[in-house]
Amino acid sequence: MNHSKRVLCTVIGTMFVLGASQVMAATTLKLSHNHNRDHAVHKAMTQFADEVRQKTNGDVRIRIYPDAQLGNQRESMELMQNGALDLVKSNAAELEAFTPAYSAFNLPYLFRDKAHYEKIKNGEIGKEILASSKNSGFVGITYYEAGARSFYAKKPIRTPADLKGMKIRVQPSPTAISMVKNLGGNPTPLAYGELYTALQQGVVDAAENNIPSFNLSRHSEVARYFSLDKHTMVPDVLVISNKSLNKLSSAQQKILMDAAANSSEYMTKLWQKSEEKERQNAEKIGVKFVNVDKKSFEEAVKPMYDDIKKTDPMLYRMVERIRAVR
Ligand code: GCU
Repeated sequence: MNHSKRVLCTVIGTMFVLGASQVMAATTLKLSHNHNRDHAVHKAMTQFADEVRQKTNGDVRIRIYPDAQLGNQRESMELMQNGALDLVKSNAAELEAFTPAYSAFNLPYLFRDKAHYEKIKNGEIGKEILASSKNSGFVGITYYEAGARSFYAKKPIRTPADLKGMKIRVQPSPTAISMVKNLGGNPTPLAYGELYTALQQGVVDAAENNIPSFNLSRHSEVARYFSLDKHTMVPDVLVISNKSLNKLSSAQQKILMDAAANSSEYMTKLWQKSEEKERQNAEKIGVKFVNVDKKSFEEAVKPMYDDIKKTDPMLYRMVERIRAVR
């Protein structure tokens, strides 16, 4: 082999080794969620993934699997706990089954208004809740805005009396189940992905969600009345397994946390536009948005708080702390 050939071989060999070590150094984290690509939360998490990749010089990559491709929220949480997934975007209602601290977010009419809710979510209590699942093998890294949830059905729901005898789809959250019982309906827990068909075929008569999810899931095609009782404000939550977090260096962990916080701010901006846009889109296909008097709903769920006081002192303490925040 002449000299120039030897040099070429060395250069190619070095490039190969360098290339291989770069590939080996990159960590790919899998993130699962159940919304489609048009949902604001998918866009916010895409920004999160881009920022992480850029700031770690490609060493940490986040691959997002939308549309429940890797399973519904519960299945995704289980896959994450088994180590097959790294991150899951779920929400406080679904997470209640994994760690009870999230229950507070599922209590109806606990927050005085949006500002109160934001203060709790972004303050000390919110952080405590995100950290509360550590012993279950994962932690929350950020909340995403998800508006207020209201009932929708083939008829307007103006007072709790209208829910009587109706089968209402709820998330698998004990608090949501209790809320619907207190309002006089029959709670039916079901995964989000099964709801379109369930509404269409009359397996359930009603459901509840925020406006963007209601329209982007096309539930608006099969439930033409969205009654704005705004019973809860349930944030979406991005969680990561302890194992996956510990795979990253402390500098990478910081980049991940900062990027998550930035994407959450971005989401808040996207959310308002998305609520307006999806309301208009729903109206275009014939959905009626019904203003309701929230008082009768608030009255009907009051016994829930007496119950919690008697049976769940820890949650009641949290309720008191939340109420005390001005
Ligand atoms: C919201 C939330 C989802 C959740 C869904 C539901 O759309 O963003 O995380 O799955 O509600 O009602 O199941």
